[in-house]
Amino acid sequence: MAAPILALQNARITFGGGDLFSDISLGVEPGMRIALMGRNGSGKSTLLKAIAGSIELDGGERFVQAGTRISYLQQQPELIPGRTVREQVATGLPKSMTEEGQETGYLAAQVLDGLGIEGDRQLQTLSGGEARRVSLAEALVSNPDVLLLDEPTNHLDITTILWLEEELKSFRGALLIISHDRQFLANLTNRLFWMDRGRLRTHGKGFSAFEAWSEDILAREEVEAKKLDK
Ligand SMILES: Nc1ncnc2c1ncn2[C@@H]1O[C@H](COP(=O)(O)OP(=O)(O)O)[C@@H](O)[C@H]1O
Ligand SMILES: [Mg+2]
Repeated sequence: MAAPILALQNARITFGGGDLFSDISLGVEPGMRIALMGRNGSGKSTLLKAIAGSIELDGGERFVQAGTRISYLQQQPELIPGRTVREQVATGLPKSMTEEGQETGYLAAQVLDGLGIEGDRQLQTLSGGEARRVSLAEALVSNPDVLLLDEPTNHLDITTILWLEEELKSFRGALLIISHDRQFLANLTNRLFWMDRGRLRTHGKGFSAFEAWSEDILAREEVEAKKLDK
């Protein structure tokens, strides 16, 4: 087993009164392609934010191997009006590159080329689907070691979904994806994380194995519960 480049240990998040989850430990190793499953409201988006480091844990610890680049595409990306598409995509580049004054425009241009959106356009003129694509470009431009995607195919047309799938197939970093798009997950993932009633279960196979695996676990739980009842 390779060493994880990013890990949570006994992670806990509390909202209002109770724990949304506690005692979650996980490791992301290079090249893992993980589908993060779970019902609506089970805490998937919150767990992804905790992994991204965009929210603080209420308990437990987060480790990131030094030098690891993490990119996170949130469920509702924020785009600041007044910027051009090129400027927005360039915000996804690591500070080390932009501060050294390296010529980074060509990197943004390359990603934009694949997207088919003019770099000079103002963000406020974009349609919802275009805005989403710009956020994807921003997440991809640094060629991250870990890419975290929360519902990346929402509001995308089929052409763009297929484009994204191809991009992610050739992406060599670790991937963690939340999505309702079963085909997308089946084509891209080789690991499962399942948020279920405040716990995280993991499985060494991709989305195609999810149904059989989760149903088996639930069926066994039911048998155990009946035994206890007696
Ligand atoms: N910032 C927050 N403050 C309070 N409650 C929150 C916050 N973010 C999410 N929640 C609640 O936590 C639960 C899990 O949300 P979320 O992580 O978005 O789940 P999922 O992505 O699986 O649908 C929901 O009940 C949601 O209302
Ligand atoms: Mg969510």
